[in-house]
Amino acid sequence: MPAISFHSVCKNYPGTRNRSAPGVRALDDVSFDIQPGEFFGLLGPNGAGKTSLISILAGLSRATSGTVTVHGSNVVSDYAAARRKLGVVPQELVFDPFFTVREALRIQSGYFGVRNNDDWIDELLASLGLSDKASANMRQLSGGMKRRVLVAQALVHKPQVIVLDEPTAGVDVELRQALWQFIARLNKQGSTVLLTTHYLEEAEALCSRIAMLKQGRMVALATTSELLKTASSNVLRFKIDSELPKAIADKARITGRIVQLPAHNAIEIEHYLSAIREAGLVAEDVEIRKADLEDVFLEVMAEKIGASA
Ligand SMILES: Nc1ncnc2c1ncn2[C@@H]1O[C@H](COP(=O)(O)OP(=O)(O)OP(=O)(O)O)[C@@H](O)[C@H]1O
Ligand SMILES: [Mg+2]
Repeated sequence: MPAISFHSVCKNYPGTRNRSAPGVRALDDVSFDIQPGEFFGLLGPNGAGKTSLISILAGLSRATSGTVTVHGSNVVSDYAAARRKLGVVPQELVFDPFFTVREALRIQSGYFGVRNNDDWIDELLASLGLSDKASANMRQLSGGMKRRVLVAQALVHKPQVIVLDEPTAGVDVELRQALWQFIARLNKQGSTVLLTTHYLEEAEALCSRIAMLKQGRMVALATTSELLKTASSNVLRFKIDSELPKAIADKARITGRIVQLPAHNAIEIEHYLSAIREAGLVAEDVEIRKADLEDVFLEVMAEKIGASA
């Protein structure tokens, strides 16, 4: 039995009543399963439908059509059972400003019927670098600390399935590493993890399998290593101060002075470099690197699939 199963999920948001804004089809026939113990990445640009899918999974919103189950429990008809198996870290920071961190965690524990949970709460606080904030009021915390509390809240009832919607947005480097170490440990101990992130190097490092959404449609579903093989194998990277010839600029990913060009082989690389030389330009700090998940992501998103929707 899959840990999570999405079957033909569609989600329409209605337009405004006076029809000044049309409705949105946020999810269009999305189907995939996540197996127990997987560390699964759900990727896509802003507005692709990731949070919509997670909201349906968490029972916060209803699918227009389709079925979602968590370890066999339907998220609509068997809501309480499905919800108890899930720990969800939402993208939006929502919290009650009147409680201390420990109170918030105890209340969440109680909500799931877990009593005498202070040992686990202490372990969560320590693992998330929150031990010295246990008695602080929620409103006294910085944004990154609030996000850590949201992670602790999601894990307080030891859910089988952990769902993280951009858990590292606004979180500093040190905590990000601590957080991933902790989540990876829970995953090794058997928890299933579903993660969305815009940090593609995190997804590449952590996720064994990845789905990509674009305008509500699935445009990729494969193991991370399969995805990496589908990309152009190499990337030519250099710095340049002048404008590139158009033929090259059209293919390039340009960030300030840094230019990156996908290349399948040595001939393609030589072709780029000679075109630059012939244009009388000088490329500095030239290097060739292996394509990474960000390159694959950009290639998949640039394809025409879904563009006509
Ligand atoms: N409550 C809502 N009412 C109407 N439209 C919505 C609502 N929530 C989301 N949408 C629309 O649905 C689409 C998908 O949004 P969603 O939040 O699922 O994207 P996302 O992939 O999570 O993006 P991001 O990376 O920015 O978090 C967008 O076009 C968005 O404007
Ligand atoms: Mg989102």
